[in-house]
Amino acid sequence: MTINPVLIKSSFALVEPHGVAVAGYFYDYLFEHHPAVRDLFAEHIDEQRDLLWAALGTLVARLDDTETLQRVLRDLGARHAGYGALVDHFPAVGESLLATLAHHAGDAWTEETEASWTALYGVISDTMGQALTSAHQYRR
Ligand code: HEM
Repeated sequence: MTINPVLIKSSFALVEPHGVAVAGYFYDYLFEHHPAVRDLFAEHIDEQRDLLWAALGTLVARLDDTETLQRVLRDLGARHAGYGALVDHFPAVGESLLATLAHHAGDAWTEETEASWTALYGVISDTMGQALTSAHQYRR
């Protein structure tokens, strides 16, 4: 599976204008299907909601700039050690993210688009996960 930047960007461009509704769908999905992670988040997630989707927008915009992408993901992963996030949580977030994108992209959500997002989330979770694991070790 490889990342097709054209498919990632075109599908994200369809979803992004739905703004707050997209982020709301994501957290509803995550907390409904994976209630164990709810307590990691603040009670009112309004601010966090915008930050996660803004970060995704940055990642999508930097897709062709591997060096910056890796740096942003490592920094983000290291910060997540302070939020109680674990590598084991990444599949739940990935599943919720893809379900949200699929729901809002409608007919544009093809098998190829899904494969591309799966590959991209693999890079996100591997890079963030490695930085998270090192940060946890460092904090011990
Ligand atoms: C696509 C992957 C992810 C992205 C882009 C992302 C993005 C963000 C951003 C931008 C923030 C705001 C603070 C900051 O910039 O450091 C944040 C906070 C947070 N993230 Fe993530 N995150 C991701 C994956 C995860 C995972 C797998 C978990 C584990 C459950 C998680 C849990 C949290 C928590 C608990 C906070 C703090 C929330 C609060 O204070 O209420 N994130 N995330």
